[in-house]
Amino acid sequence: MALFSPLNPPMSDWHGKTVWVVGASSGIGQATAAQLHGLGARVVVSARKVQSLDAFVQAHPGSQALALDVTDATAVAAAAAQLLAQGPLDCVMYCAGHYTAMRANAMDVPDMRRHLEVNYLGALYVLDAVLPALIQQGHGHISLVGSVAGYRGLPQSLAYGPTKAALINLAETLYLDLHPQGLGVSIINPGFVQTPLTASNAFTMPALLTPAQAASAIVQGWGRGAFEIHFPKRFTLWMQALRVLPNRWFFALAKRVSP
Ligand SMILES: NC(=O)c1ccc[n+]([C@@H]2O[C@H](COP(=O)([O-])OP(=O)(O)OC[C@H]3O[C@@H](n4cnc5c(N)ncnc54)[C@H](OP(=O)(O)O)[C@@H]3O)[C@@H](O)[C@H]2O)c1
Repeated sequence: MALFSPLNPPMSDWHGKTVWVVGASSGIGQATAAQLHGLGARVVVSARKVQSLDAFVQAHPGSQALALDVTDATAVAAAAAQLLAQGPLDCVMYCAGHYTAMRANAMDVPDMRRHLEVNYLGALYVLDAVLPALIQQGHGHISLVGSVAGYRGLPQSLAYGPTKAALINLAETLYLDLHPQGLGVSIINPGFVQTPLTASNAFTMPALLTPAQAASAIVQGWGRGAFEIHFPKRFTLWMQALRVLPNRWFFALAKRVSP
């Protein structure tokens, strides 16, 4: 592998491509689906909120809504089968997410289980439903939406952070297995984006982006053939630096910035 060649087949011509965005009823997923539609892709949008999906389809002719709950493996498999019966799938973006701020002195295991089911297990159900077909067709791209909260343990991230760390690790392992088969795999690690998911954050979110800005960064990252797509760099590069800090320094810093 050449030192600076793209890690994935770059995706820049979206005309006639079919993209399945799971978690597309609002926020980053919806904005990315809208941009891809504008670039000529046939976009299939999934989430639970049927009304939001239908409104998207109304506003984006040629797109398709497949309502589902990602915690329901049977529903995910049925949706994937319906989609794959229509033709090849070029890109799948797993963007469904659940977030509640949580600390160890108020641990809520049912809600932690919910994080695991929506953020991680749902991704496995989608992968299980589409991978055999993608491997057989020998092309296609899987993109998982993680978070910089998966880099290291962060304040209030007791339930959310571990699920995002799991997605980052999953994407790396998937890459090792699927790149030799001709498939692309990417992990998207956003900083703060103004969406319903972050609306209840009581602190000032640094370097906050709009969903449209996040979508542009994602589409550009896919166009570069990047493995990790992280943004905005003015925030995420600092978060990446935390990964290499010795634990003592990291804990001291994290305590100081804890909201
Ligand atoms: N906003 C940020 O600052 C930020 C930062 C880093 C990472 N992220 C990640 O970005 C992704 C998108 O989040 P967002 O910020 O755009 O928030 P959002 O607008 O709340 O989007 C979350 C999406 O997940 C879907 N979803 C949740 N539970 C679901 C379920 N059981 N079945 C199917 N779909 C489900 C929601 O749709 P329904 O409710 O209609 O089902 C919605 O479409 C998430 O993975 C999140 O963790 C966000």
